[in-house]
Amino acid sequence: MTKLFTFLFLLIGIISTQAQTLQSPNKNLTMTFSLTPNGTPVYELKYKNKPVIKSSKLGIETIDVPSFTEGFSQKGITTATFDETWQPVWGEQKNIQNNYNELVVSIEQKAVANRYINIRFRLFDDGLGFRYEFPEQSNLNYFTIKEEKTQFALAGNHKAFWLPGDFDTQEYNTVTSKLSEVRGKMKEATTPNASQHPFSATGLQTPLMMKSDDGLYINIHEAALVDYSCLSLELDDKNMILNAFLTPDAIGNKGYMQAPTQTPWRTIVVSDDARKILASKMILNLNEPTKYEDVSWIKPVKYIGVWWELITGKSSWAYNDMTSVKLGELDYSKTKASPKHAANTAHVKEYIDFASKHGFDAVLVEGWNEGWEDWFGKSKDYVFDFVTPYPDFNVKELHEYAASKNVKMMMHHETSGSVRNYERHMDKAYQFMVDNGYNSVKSGYVGDIIPRGEFHYGQWMNNHYLYAVTKAAEYKIMVNAHEAVRPTGLSRTYPNLIGNESARGTEYESFGGNNADHTTILPFTRLMGGPMDYTPGIFQTQINAYNPDNNSFVHTTLAKQLALYVTMYSPLQMAADLPETYNKHLDAFQFIKDVAIDWDETFILEAEPGDFITIARKAKGKNEWFIGGITDENKRTATVDFSFLPKGKTFEAIIYADGKDADYITNPQSYQIKKMKVTSKTKLKQPMATSGGFAISVK
Ligand code: NOJ
Ligand code: CA
Repeated sequence: MTKLFTFLFLLIGIISTQAQTLQSPNKNLTMTFSLTPNGTPVYELKYKNKPVIKSSKLGIETIDVPSFTEGFSQKGITTATFDETWQPVWGEQKNIQNNYNELVVSIEQKAVANRYINIRFRLFDDGLGFRYEFPEQSNLNYFTIKEEKTQFALAGNHKAFWLPGDFDTQEYNTVTSKLSEVRGKMKEATTPNASQHPFSATGLQTPLMMKSDDGLYINIHEAALVDYSCLSLELDDKNMILNAFLTPDAIGNKGYMQAPTQTPWRTIVVSDDARKILASKMILNLNEPTKYEDVSWIKPVKYIGVWWELITGKSSWAYNDMTSVKLGELDYSKTKASPKHAANTAHVKEYIDFASKHGFDAVLVEGWNEGWEDWFGKSKDYVFDFVTPYPDFNVKELHEYAASKNVKMMMHHETSGSVRNYERHMDKAYQFMVDNGYNSVKSGYVGDIIPRGEFHYGQWMNNHYLYAVTKAAEYKIMVNAHEAVRPTGLSRTYPNLIGNESARGTEYESFGGNNADHTTILPFTRLMGGPMDYTPGIFQTQINAYNPDNNSFVHTTLAKQLALYVTMYSPLQMAADLPETYNKHLDAFQFIKDVAIDWDETFILEAEPGDFITIARKAKGKNEWFIGGITDENKRTATVDFSFLPKGKTFEAIIYADGKDADYITNPQSYQIKKMKVTSKTKLKQPMATSGGFAISVK
C-alpha cells in the first residue's frame, strides 16, 4: 500500500468562542463551526461561496443523562491535514486518494454535567463528513439516545430524488420533485412491501440526492454505520431544514451508547458537476482500512442462478404445496415434490453446465433447503435451519459436479426476518458451506423482523448485519445481504461484504416494474454507500413468456440491460435471465461474458440524475475498456469521448446498441451489434431509444 502521509498536527491552546473555519484542500468548500449564545453547536457549508448548508444545529438528545444539545463552551481545537493513496481489495479504481483537512472541536458542558464531547469535521474536495465523538471521562459512560439533533438547513427548495422515509425498506421507486412537493406526493410514493414502516408525511431516506436551482448537486448520507441506528431525514418543509431522524428499537429508543464511542459520519457530497458526485470516494474514505490481514480469498464474482424463474413465478422455491410445515418433524421424502420445484439436482446441473461453458464463477441456487412452504408472511421463528436440503437437491453430488466444471456454488440463506433463528444456526450454516465448497452467500431478510418490534434499520439489526459479515469472514465466506440496511462504505473495512440489495432491484420488473429513470438515479442515491446486487441482464422483457399469469414487463430495452453492467458498479454481477433465453441471443450475451467486474480506472463521461449516465471503465490489470450508457424514458444521443484510451493506438470496439426501431414499451428487444476502430481522438455520437442504452467493449 502506497502511503503518502502528511500529518500536520496543530494544537491551538487558546480557548475561544470564535467561529472556526475549515477549507477543503482545493479551497472550493468552506465549513464554519461556531457556538450560539446559549452554547448550541452550529455549522455551515459553502461551495465556491454559495451556501450549501446554512447555519444548522448539532447535538444529541438523550434519555438518561443531560442532553448534548446546549450549554457548551469551547474547550479546544485541533486541525490536521491528511493525504494518502490506498488500494481497495476490489473497486471502481485501483488507487483511491484520501485527502482532507480536519478540524476537531472539543466542547464542554461544565455547568450541565461537567463533561465534554468532540465533533470531528473532515473537509474533502468533494464534500464534508462529520461525526460526534464521546471520549472516555469520569462523567460520561452509558447513555441512551432519544434523537440525534443534527440539522441540514438547505439554501432553497431544491429538486430532490427521494424515497419515503421507512424503518424497514428502501424498495421504492424514486420520486423526483421539489422538496415542497414531498408532503403531497408521500402517499402515492409509499407503495406496498412485505415489511414497511414509513414514519412521517415528510420523512426521507438517505442517500438523498438534490439539485439546487443554480446547479449545485448535493448528496446527504452517512458513512461507517456501526453500532448505531440508520439515519433518515425529517423534512421541515416550511423552513427547508432536514432534521436527523434515527430508526427506533422496539420500545422507541434510538441508540444505546457506551463511552468511549462515536456516531457514524454524516456526509454531504457536493459539486456543480453531477459527474463528480458519482466519482466521489468520500464515503469509502471515511471508513476504516480493512480489518482483515488476509484478503486473498475475497474475489469479485460473476454468477448465474436458479432465481429469475422463481421471481417470475415460472417455478417455485417450495418443494410442495403444503401451507404449514414444522421443521424437523416433517419427513419431506414422504411428501410429493411439486413439478415446479426448481432447485433439483438435474436442473441445477444444467445451470452449472451453462456457467462452465460461458466462464461464470458461480451458480446461486434458491429454494434448496427445507422450510419454503410457509416462509412468507407468517412471522415464523424456527423457519429454516440452513443445513437441510430438500430430498431432490443432492448437495454432495452438486458440489463435486460443480468443482469438476470449475464453478463455485453460491449459498442462499433466506432468514424470513427471523434473525434470532439465523444467529442460532449461523456457525453450523457457515461450516456446512465450507464443507460443501460454497465460498459466498446471498442472505435475505424478507418480512418483519423477529424479535418482533425491531426494525430492519435499527441499531440491533445493524449490529446483526455486521456480525454476519465478520462471522462469515472467519469461514472465508463472502456476503451479499438483501433487505439489509443500505451500505455506508463498510466494504472498505470488511471487503467480504461484496454486495447488498437494499433498494428496489431488478426483481421488481417482475412485480409491476421499475420506473424508466430508475437506474439513472440509483448511482446518485443507493450506490453512494456501496455496490448493489441489482441483477441485470434480462433479455426476455415480457414476463408472461415465462409465466402466462404475470403481465409485468421490464422497463428498459435489451441494450440498456447490457449497459447496466458498467453503470451499476458492483464486484458481484449476475446474469439474471434464464440460460434458454441467453442461448437465443448469444451475440448480445457475449458482452455479459466479456465485461469486467473489477477495475483499474473509472471515467464518468456524462451524467445527470434522473436523465442519463455514460461511464467508461478500464478492466483491472488488462488493456480492456467497457463503456455503458443509459437514458430515462426519453430518447437521447450520448457522446462517448474516448480520450481515456492510451494515445497513438488504434483499438477495436464492439458496440451493442438499441436497434433503430427500439422502444422500451413497443420494441424492447431490438438491438444491433457493430464493430468500429477507435482511438483516443474518437468522439462517438451514440443514439439511445426510450429507456434505452448501449454497451461497448474495447480491446
Ligand atoms: C428477496 C430477494 O431480494 C430475492 O432476490 C430473493 O429471491 C427472495 N427474497 C427470496 O429470498
Ligand atoms: Ca428524467
